[in-house]
Amino acid sequence: VTFDLVLVGFGNVARRFVSLLHEQRAELQRDYRVETRVVGIATKRHGQVYAPNGVNVQNLLRLFASRSSTTPPYVLAGFSRTSRSTVDFIRDAVRRSGAAARDGRLVVVETTTLDVTRGQPAIDHIKVALAGGAHVVTANKGPVAFAYWTLSRAARRARRQFLFEGAVMDGIPIFNLVRETLPLVKVRGFRGVVNSTTNFILTAIEQGQPYEAALAEMQERGIAEADPSLDVDGWDAAAKTAALANVLLGARLTPRTVERQGITPTIAKRAIEARSKGRRVKLVVRARRKGSQVVARVAPDELAEQDLLAGLEGQQNAIILQTDLLEEIAIVQRGGSLTQTAYALLSDLVTIARAPAPVRRPSRATR
Ligand SMILES: NC(=O)c1ccc[n+]([C@@H]2O[C@H](COP(=O)([O-])OP(=O)(O)OC[C@H]3O[C@@H](n4cnc5c(N)ncnc54)[C@H](OP(=O)(O)O)[C@@H]3O)[C@@H](O)[C@H]2O)c1
Repeated sequence: VTFDLVLVGFGNVARRFVSLLHEQRAELQRDYRVETRVVGIATKRHGQVYAPNGVNVQNLLRLFASRSSTTPPYVLAGFSRTSRSTVDFIRDAVRRSGAAARDGRLVVVETTTLDVTRGQPAIDHIKVALAGGAHVVTANKGPVAFAYWTLSRAARRARRQFLFEGAVMDGIPIFNLVRETLPLVKVRGFRGVVNSTTNFILTAIEQGQPYEAALAEMQERGIAEADPSLDVDGWDAAAKTAALANVLLGARLTPRTVERQGITPTIAKRAIEARSKGRRVKLVVRARRKGSQVVARVAPDELAEQDLLAGLEGQQNAIILQTDLLEEIAIVQRGGSLTQTAYALLSDLVTIARAPAPVRRPSRATR
């Protein structure tokens, strides 16, 4: 089967996704009978392109890599600058790919920038894609943090899939783990460390590095968000918490309804003192059911040394799921990279190719 892909956003993640698709094409074809073709790309500032017979993305990636021409790669690759909105571009691209949409072979890959205040315009991108008969995969946590129920209902109605494995801990399976491998198990709550920048800062501080220098290092390495307040003020962690709680606990949270406290340079004293007593300060996220509600918070916590979360160094992340039948299940991410995020999108694509996938409807805590 050839899947036609419309890429909404063509930044670091989307470009790595396209190159990973190319690297894995033999395995995709052999193991899943899947071939792919990119038929459309939308960006914010560099225009849009739609080509029913496929965009030459390998050439586009080469143009990005070589930078030999003064003409931007987008122009060379035939992107047109237009005032048309991305929503209109998607509506049009999906309509023009009507045959693929009808056959369930059209996938919109949403990787635009995170908007932590409303999750927009990514939510609208996904709505219009599903309404036109496309599946949607995304690494953007905004839509699942703000509109999980609306979008999953829209997907069910359209008989299409809305998948977002890359929204939390890159390609490490969390949503897949629960959906695919834990039938009947109820997740009652979770705890975790899910923001790499703040964990790196806290580890560096314990070793005597100044807060600002550690943050600057994360920015240089491209790990911190473009606006680092999203990391240090706890917004990124709150968005991931809302996403996890909505999907795994049936909550109706948004990042704004997660109680949130980030870290500031004054955390240094507390982190160093804790370390000297064999304890460690971590930015911990947690959520649990409380009656018919789900309560969630992000805050720096002082943890005992034997706590699994206390052992996380540098950029490492972990989530501990509290379940009824299996007690605690912990999953640790030792290193994150663009490849892992791109892999999340690839694994979502394979899930679609294996359809009909089981649709797990968590019991809703807050109807
Ligand atoms: N980087 C990671 O390691 C990582 C890990 C997990 C999740 N994520 C999530 O994945 C998403 C993409 O991350 P990234 O690192 O690839 O970001 P990025 O490099 O900044 O790329 C974002 C892309 O989205 C485009 N865009 C933004 N608003 C748009 C709009 N309204 N319409 C069309 N295109 C729009 C941008 O267009 P221009 O090119 O014109 O600017 C750009 O191509 C984010 O939501 C991020 O939170 C990233």
